[in-house]
Amino acid sequence: MNYREMNPSQLASELEGLRKKYEDYKALGLKLDMSRGKPDSEQLDLSQGMLNIVSDPAECVSENGFDCRNYGLMDGIPESKRLFSELLDIPADNMIVCGNSSLNLMYDAVARAMIYGVYTKNGCKPWFGQNVKFICPVPGYDRHFGICESLGIGMINVDMTETGPDMDAVEALVADDASIKGIWVVPKYSNPCGTTCSDETVRRLAGLKPAAPDFRIFWDNAYIIHDIYEKSDPLLNLFTEAARMGNPDMPLIFFSTSKITFPGAGVALVAASDNNINQFKSVMKYQTIGFDKLNQIRHVKFFKNAGRIREHMKLHAALLRPKFDAVLAAFERELKPVGVGEWFAPRGGYFISLNLPDGTARRTFDLCNGLGLKLTDAGATFPYGKDPLDRNLRIAPSYPALPELEKASAVLCLCAKIAAVEKALAC
Ligand SMILES: Cc1ncc(COP(=O)(O)O)c(C=O)c1O
Repeated sequence: MNYREMNPSQLASELEGLRKKYEDYKALGLKLDMSRGKPDSEQLDLSQGMLNIVSDPAECVSENGFDCRNYGLMDGIPESKRLFSELLDIPADNMIVCGNSSLNLMYDAVARAMIYGVYTKNGCKPWFGQNVKFICPVPGYDRHFGICESLGIGMINVDMTETGPDMDAVEALVADDASIKGIWVVPKYSNPCGTTCSDETVRRLAGLKPAAPDFRIFWDNAYIIHDIYEKSDPLLNLFTEAARMGNPDMPLIFFSTSKITFPGAGVALVAASDNNINQFKSVMKYQTIGFDKLNQIRHVKFFKNAGRIREHMKLHAALLRPKFDAVLAAFERELKPVGVGEWFAPRGGYFISLNLPDGTARRTFDLCNGLGLKLTDAGATFPYGKDPLDRNLRIAPSYPALPELEKASAVLCLCAKIAAVEKALAC
């Protein structure tokens, strides 16, 4: 029976039963973790063959005769640029293939803008010393918000919808306020909502008319090919759309193979217009003589072409699918009948976003903690860690083994129900 239809005495006896179950779980001394979106070791094993693919000195030479063991080629070896160009459908000349982390590149892009500014036809004006704000679609990725917070950039919440950020709000905000210089977007299988920007959303982003001439879209395409089910969400190419709409310099596009090969030992890149790339290089040349090209050549030799990367992703999907299914099945079984929470079943990515009854996310998190289940902190999906409605939890099903995940899902549902009934009784 739905909790909303229960009277106070029914709710009280429900709570008693739930608390009894809670004590039973407590006695088990569980140690479970659904806190961060990491591949499990079986997923990492899928790319193990890459680690000894380059051993002979002759294998370390790129197609233009460059010895990848040495300094140089700051924007990446030509064959890695071609591989990722084919995968992302962005010209190779418009990308810089770098080290292992796209988050690192995002931080650097924002920090560079703070110090030097970004390209405009009237030159670059540093953001430091100005009142700078970013639009942050929420719920969103905590580390994006962390970059803004650490650099003193103000954050404005805009709701995420099933078709991407609320574009009416985004258009109105950027048109009016020249201090808004950026927006974070995870366009496909977003972290944590799992939703993908519709064609209309991509076109509206591409066609934005910001008051700030140095406005940028930070397009974090971390999950562009990370389908879990047969049917993939389509996503328009922002690079092409923005150029078509006369805004070629607006998108800064980030991607990495962290969740294709190895987080921590993948290859990351930034892609953007000629003007942006030239400005990036003019600063990067002081930061590095060249990134890890051996890792780039390992990736190229392992995959050979974009089609093989897509095939590889099907192996990840086969491992991830039962885990997502298990969590979603638990929600359907335990939460739906009692009317607790709302969630979106994503077709890819690494997360499920769970919206609980208002005012119960923190309590659910604490109750889970009490049973040894670690979750991403309540509030983490919002700037400054403040969820105004205290309702969102980010669930990461990828890392625990399936039996643990099933236990963790049962614990989570139990705690969500306790928090919901407590709230209902207090009202
Ligand atoms: C949306 C998003 N962007 C970036 C990252 C981190 O990327 P990288 O490993 O390339 O630094 C993550 C990791 O969870 C993520 O979810």
